[in-house]
Amino acid sequence: MADTEVTTDVATDVATDVATAVTTAVTTAVVTGAARGIGRAIAARLVREGWRVVVNDVDASELATVAAEIGADAVPGDAASDAGVRALVDAATARLGRIDVFFANAGIGTLSGIEATDEEWARVLDVNLLAHVRAARALVPGWLERGSGRLVVTASAAGLLTMLGDAPYSVTKHGAVAFAEWLSATYRHRGIVVQAICPQGVATRMLEESGPLKTLLTRDPVVSADDVAEAVWQALQGDDFLVLPHPEVRDYAIARVTHPDAWLSGMNRMQQRLDLQGAPPASAPRHAPHDELPHTQPHTQPHTEDDIQHDDQQETP
Ligand SMILES: NC(=O)c1ccc[n+]([C@@H]2O[C@H](COP(=O)([O-])OP(=O)(O)OC[C@H]3O[C@@H](n4cnc5c(N)ncnc54)[C@H](O)[C@@H]3O)[C@@H](O)[C@H]2O)c1
Repeated sequence: MADTEVTTDVATDVATDVATAVTTAVTTAVVTGAARGIGRAIAARLVREGWRVVVNDVDASELATVAAEIGADAVPGDAASDAGVRALVDAATARLGRIDVFFANAGIGTLSGIEATDEEWARVLDVNLLAHVRAARALVPGWLERGSGRLVVTASAAGLLTMLGDAPYSVTKHGAVAFAEWLSATYRHRGIVVQAICPQGVATRMLEESGPLKTLLTRDPVVSADDVAEAVWQALQGDDFLVLPHPEVRDYAIARVTHPDAWLSGMNRMQQRLDLQGAPPASAPRHAPHDELPHTQPHTQPHTEDDIQHDDQQETP
């Protein structure tokens, strides 16, 4: 908490509180989307570290099983709608006394490009972005009064780069990173820590259900949900904004910003390969109603700098 330098006695107490927020024996947390995958792994890790944890998911029955298995408290429900977030925060506060860290982890994809319907856009915006806004709205005022609080959002490498085959996912994950950046820039001097987890492929059901994109999505090493939980645990020991379980994402993000057209050409070459493989995205006709669409996942970048360099060579005489 290097940024919380203060001078008054009261403020010193606040700084102490902030500094111990994630190191005391009993820290409290809420993890959304925790009935499986990354959310479950983060929650299990926190419980093993002695934290008191409320887990949330729309899948109430699986959530109850997971909560019993890992030793967490289950609060089922929709972590995306304003009413759902408020109900979750109220129930979790009643059970935990206070919420030190909120993990806005629930996320969905569409496997859709420009054909995504307004309803699909609205739902993905709700779950992948507005859920974070609503959680901040419910939590930040209390955290500011207390002088401490931490919001950890599970964004994606797609939030720094893009996700071929899923426009709503790419846009909303960029939005999630942007909102987290805004929160951090606005409140970090007042004891609020914000962190954004931006993984590429993680071996969860989301990856399994990414259909024809799976081959592409697994070009870079796929990590386990436990690997992500370990990266998150390490990140909780400090305040660094970006949590990158795949270190190569940093290089991709630098390449995107430094050479945008070369990066876009590399991405487009990958899309062309997908087109040859008959993958759906971009403007393919819908093949299943929304509820049957597999949840997709987030990353798809030029595998190495070769793609970018190749295009650099093409574009730079
Ligand atoms: N798996 C990957 O490769 C990968 C990579 C980068 C980022 N992510 C992100 O990680 C997060 C977790 O993904 P995962 O791979 O564990 O996926 P997953 O599909 O295995 O688990 C997601 C969980 O969220 C729950 N959920 C969905 N909408 C919800 C809502 N409105 N309220 C409460 N719970 C809800 C689902 O029921 C499910 O249990 C997501 O935000 C995802 O976008 C995943």
